Amino acid sequence: MKTKKIVLDINDEKNWHMDEAISIIKSGGLVAFPTETVYGLGGDAENKEAAKKIYAAKGRPSDNPLIVHIYDFKQAEKICKNIPKEARILAEKFWPGPMTMILEKNDIIPLETTGGLETVAIRMPSHKIAREFLRRSNVMIAAPSANLSGRPSPTTAMHVIHDLDGKIDCIIEGGECDIGLESSIIDLSTNVPTILRPGYINKEMFEEALQREVIIDPAILDANKLKNIRPKAPGMKYRHYAPKGSLTIVEGEKDKVIRTINENILKYKSEGKKTGVIALDDTKDKYDADVVLSIGERDNEYSIAKHLYAALREFDDMNVEVMYSESFATPNIGQAIMNRLLKAAGHHIIRVD
Ligand code: TXA
Ligand code: MG
Repeated sequence: MKTKKIVLDINDEKNWHMDEAISIIKSGGLVAFPTETVYGLGGDAENKEAAKKIYAAKGRPSDNPLIVHIYDFKQAEKICKNIPKEARILAEKFWPGPMTMILEKNDIIPLETTGGLETVAIRMPSHKIAREFLRRSNVMIAAPSANLSGRPSPTTAMHVIHDLDGKIDCIIEGGECDIGLESSIIDLSTNVPTILRPGYINKEMFEEALQREVIIDPAILDANKLKNIRPKAPGMKYRHYAPKGSLTIVEGEKDKVIRTINENILKYKSEGKKTGVIALDDTKDKYDADVVLSIGERDNEYSIAKHLYAALREFDDMNVEVMYSESFATPNIGQAIMNRLLKAAGHHIIRVD
């Protein structure tokens, strides 16, 4: 199939021509679109055939549920039952924005969309183009990240084109995503609000908003537990974001990290391997690898989150075989960064102090 490309300038709202994308989504087709977190691959959330097409295009296991994107809280009321007061508080505080809530669903959303679950994930994105697309189409849009299953989530339209060109009806190109990591997911269908996937909105922010304890699904924090407990978000059990080569994280005091990474790089280079390092602006010149990518500034943790996935993709494109990364356990979005990085590394981490 030929994938229609619609290029929109985020700052030129008057020239946003998206009629074709709207008619595609209304008639059960698939449209990739930008959000503030990552690009999504959208289909009508009420249409089971659209859900099936999403799974097929991504090569995604059908037990991995999709997030339903909405424009207005009334739509959440339409598709959910027993909405707890916590959901209203969080929606008031963090929507539109990078937060997904798990709530009990009613019969409007088909089981194909929720991977067979009786709960549904809902998110109201804040990206201006996503909001306009949702408002004008008046369709609730089921959208996973617009990557092939197992690849890093796409943070630019080029990433989407790379993975899905020819497999979906349309791509709305709207520039680079601001945050660069997927939304925080909080489960409100159980007694204690539980974070199933860390993101821009962290535990402290949820606790402050709800004035109560929030827990993090233990299965996503600890590599050993991961082997024994099944994470509550089905998608978190898959080895996502895995680059083609092997990735190791080195954690500890800066100079020791640099020394350790360089020793390893040297060894692999002498074996004829193509090597790579994920660094930051202040350390990128200190490494001897074939490819060294800085993903941000040490004192701006949001810049690190934003560029991580693009770096993982770049290493793949350059066929790097052995990669090392510094550790980025920063105060706010650090837990989300490390969650994704650890998954990419298959939880392979060396501590050097
Ligand atoms: O930022 C985001 O959330 C992006 C953009 C496009 O909105 N979307 C995204 O979707 O990351 P996806 O499909 O790549 O990740 C959805 C995650 C998966 O881990 C899935 O298992 C989990 O949400 N999930 C969805 N519905 C769920 C449910 N009812 N219960 C538990 N986990 C659920
Ligand atoms: Mg995904």
